[in-house]
Amino acid sequence: MTISDIASKDTSIEEVCERPRAPIGLLAELTYRCPLQCPYCSNPLEINRSDKELSTSEWQNVMRQAADLGILQIHLSGGEPCVRQDLEQILGTAVDVGLYTNLITSGVTLTRERLEGLAKIGLDHVQLSIQDVEPENADFISNYKGGLEKKREVARWVKELGLPLTLNVVVHRHNIENTSAMIDFAVGNGAGRIELAHVQYYAWALKNRAALIPTREQFYRSVKISNEAKERLKGVLVFDVVAHDQYAMRPKPCMGGWGRNLIDISPSGKVMPCQACESIPGIEIDNVRVKALSDIWVNGQAFNMFRGTSWMKEPCRSCERREIDWGGCRCQALSVSGDANATDPACQLSPFHEEFAATAGRESQEPSPPFIYRRMGGPAQHQF
Ligand code: SF4
Ligand code: FES
Repeated sequence: MTISDIASKDTSIEEVCERPRAPIGLLAELTYRCPLQCPYCSNPLEINRSDKELSTSEWQNVMRQAADLGILQIHLSGGEPCVRQDLEQILGTAVDVGLYTNLITSGVTLTRERLEGLAKIGLDHVQLSIQDVEPENADFISNYKGGLEKKREVARWVKELGLPLTLNVVVHRHNIENTSAMIDFAVGNGAGRIELAHVQYYAWALKNRAALIPTREQFYRSVKISNEAKERLKGVLVFDVVAHDQYAMRPKPCMGGWGRNLIDISPSGKVMPCQACESIPGIEIDNVRVKALSDIWVNGQAFNMFRGTSWMKEPCRSCERREIDWGGCRCQALSVSGDANATDPACQLSPFHEEFAATAGRESQEPSPPFIYRRMGGPAQHQF
């Protein structure tokens, strides 16, 4: 709803104030297609091939609606967003309507010419993912040859074009010992920010949990290294560290709190509070092809299912952190306890916490099973 909508309708100020505030960001998953096959991918396990991707004009319409709703940032993501040949047109509309634009890419399909073109259109920021700093291990994790060299090249182009760069790393047992080297890689390749995200176990990552989970000691060591580097690199590199839930005492506010800050739109136009929420029983997911984005944000059943605190059970209901972490992650609560309304097992106050942490500890000590690679045509295994 825009200001003019409010003014033109018979809407009281009380009604307007009760509405959720505008989201800050929109994650536009332009496509699930991707040349990489990372075993921790957040895309769904089953991709319905009959679901058609939104067309250029439908995504452009999403950009206009997002700006009208008051959204500030668009994250152009996937899969790999650069496989969409109309990325330039979608970006152009996002720029025209005044959105801050962030391209989240593996970089492997980019050329310098294309990146320069995107910069000219008005792209604001690039978030480049790496799998590891050891080339062979990076190839092994992504099941893609020669990715790291290409990423170095892309990082150089990003800097030459004067764009800010964030380096994204998903941290797990097959790269955690290189935490320090990954931070050095970020600095050496001109990044101003690094995201060190310990794996969130849903979608493909849940399928590969035993192959990805580090030991508690490895996790603590990695956090110590990043904390020390954060101090040392003040003014050089900004750190965004997503901690490992299994070794935490309190959960983090997943998605910044359900229905509070973010909207996720799937390639076929499903509008969701979180990428993994389709598994939640009873959830009704609206599509931007059918309903207006503002209507879905304010009134959609999925967004209201866990918005605020009224859905909470004890111990969250009376906990002083309930408006800090918003009860943590609904998808994790569901996958561990079978109840999406339960306390996130990452919280020590959850009756499932002990077993949740113990399972991680056990799995991390056992030899790693083979990866089940993310593939659109069905999973692929790799024995190592
Ligand atoms: Fe957060 Fe609920 Fe745990 Fe309190 S009881 S810290 S609100 S998850
Ligand atoms: Fe869905 Fe956390 S992954 S709420």
